[in-house]
Parts: sequence; structure tokens; C-alpha cells
Amino acid sequence: MRRKGMFRKVTSAFAALAFSAAVFAGPAFAADDPIVIKFSHVVAENTPKGQMANKFKDMIKERLDGKVKVEVFPNSQLFGDNKVLEAMLLGDVQLAAPSLSKFERYTKSLQIYDLPFLFKDMAAVERFQQSADGQKLLHATSDRGLIGLGYLHNGLKQLSASEPLRVPQDAAGKKFRIMSSDVLAAQFQAVDAVPLKKPFSEVFTLLQTKAIDGQENTWSNIYSKKFFEVQPYITESNHGVLDYMVVTSKEFWLGLPVDIRNEVKATLDEAIKFGNDVADQKAKADRQRIIDSGRSEVIELTDAERSQWVEVMKPVWKEFEEDIGPDLIDAAYNSNM
Ligand code: SIN
Repeated sequence: MRRKGMFRKVTSAFAALAFSAAVFAGPAFAADDPIVIKFSHVVAENTPKGQMANKFKDMIKERLDGKVKVEVFPNSQLFGDNKVLEAMLLGDVQLAAPSLSKFERYTKSLQIYDLPFLFKDMAAVERFQQSADGQKLLHATSDRGLIGLGYLHNGLKQLSASEPLRVPQDAAGKKFRIMSSDVLAAQFQAVDAVPLKKPFSEVFTLLQTKAIDGQENTWSNIYSKKFFEVQPYITESNHGVLDYMVVTSKEFWLGLPVDIRNEVKATLDEAIKFGNDVADQKAKADRQRIIDSGRSEVIELTDAERSQWVEVMKPVWKEFEEDIGPDLIDAAYNSNM
């Protein structure tokens, strides 16, 4: 069964990690120079991820000044999400927090987070992530040299478009930008729409020039990247989750002196907690800012309309069940209870 296969892989990844921690020599750090952690991300500084990254930088300065220096590169300044993981494996960047949808080339297990209508709210996402299953998924890329250090929230996704979307037929034939995920592609194909995998940094221009008709994203990304200024309609669909894995390279992480590694991890945990609180507040505040702007109409679905989206998109679960594992999907679904 695929799920057993995944857990065997995860268990052996844990064992491999413990083994490498014991024997790994790692990159040599010069005694007098601070260890530099370049943190690259693609969103604006006033988003949950942007604020979390800056908080982490400030806390590291307070606690490890002279020993560790964090440099934050927001807005795809250093790398876009399609390049950052390769760059990390080459040692050009040490920390990133790509959306969980962007790990598909490194593991199929994280696809679970893209299944439409799997989680009813962010509390369910948090419960699943803190469960043993959710924590094991942080190690799903470790055999590819990438270690997940924690999950960071953004929020539930909404559908924005050039025309009102109330029922699935309204999306038929329209082009939607998606992150690089086959699950997200299948989700839009399920409503007869055309999904296009494009980097986050291109979305505003694609929408503005009407090269695409719509996109899916969280309130904070739609607000901070001004998508609402070029998308007259936003359907409050809450159909999926946009969450991040804070990731580093195994080579860098295991090469850190143990005391430094422990302090960096503790600081990161605190910064993530801070970022998650920001995510919670911004989801509400940025939704309201968009409404107040008058630039975009927020469409609230009736229960009957929403049920139609669920009905056509939910078969996507079956399509990816073998890769993800049916038991894992059940566990995630049960986190809603
Ligand atoms: C992000 O929040 O990091 C970007 C999400 C996207 O690519 O839509």
C-alpha cells in the first residue's frame, strides 16, 4: 500500500537524519565570521511570511549577534519559488518558506495540502500539522537534502476573477494562474477551466494585461500584491489552504554547531508562532481592506452554491489518493472534527 510505503520512507529518513547528524562534517564555518543565513521569499514584507522573516532576523540579532546574521530577501528579489529550492541545495540560500504546493518535484506527500475542500478552517490545518502524521510530513523531503523546520500559515484561498464566479460553470473556459502543483491543475480542470503554472512574481502583470482571467490566493496575498485592483470579483470560496514549510538544506543545518543550531531552531519556532498570529489577524483585516477599497466585489456563496464547487472538485482527492495515501487523507479530514 502506498501509505505504508510513505511511512517506511519517512521512518528511514528519520534514521538517516539521526545518522547523518552524528557523522556529518558539514560546511566549515570560520571561527570569527558570523554564520550568514539568507532567507529568501516571494511575498511582501507586510504579509505573515514577510513579518515572520523580519521578526526572525531581529530576534537572531538580539540573541546571537556576531555569531549568526540573518539577511532577508522579500518579493522574489533573490529567488522565485521555482528556483529557491535548487539554490538552497547549492548553498546559495539557507532558509525559505515556499508554499507547500511548490514541493511537488521533491515529494508527492505534501500534495495533501492542495486537495480542495479538505480542511474546513485553519484550526483544522493546525491540528493536522501538529499531529504525528503532520510532523512526519516535515521530513518528506529529507532524502532529497531538504529539511522542514516547521509550518507557517497564510490562510484559506479565495478565487479572484474578471467576472463573477458563483457556480463552477462560471469558471469554465477561463484561464487561472496556479502554483506549480498537479493537484491544483486537476482542481481547475474539474471545473473545465484552464490552469496555468506561473511564478508568483508574474501574477499581477498577467491579471492586469488580461493574459489570464483569474487566480486563487489568500486575502493577504490578494491585498499585498494588489490583485484586487485588477480583479473586479473575489469569490469567498475558502476552497483550499495556502500554507508554508520553512525549509533549509540538510547540509547547512547539520553543519551548524549544535548550540547555534538549537538556538536558531528555538528562535525560528518563536518567529513562526508570531507569523501564525499575524496570519490569523491579516486574513480578517485584509479581507476588510479589500471590501473598503471598493475596487473588488467580494462574493459570498450560498450553501447551495458552495456545495456545487465541493461536488465537482472533491473527485480530485481520488485522483491523487494513491500518491498521497488514503489513510493520510482520512487523518487530515478527521482533523476537521
Ligand atoms: C506565497 O504566498 O509565498 C506565494 C503564493 C503563490 O505563489 O501564489
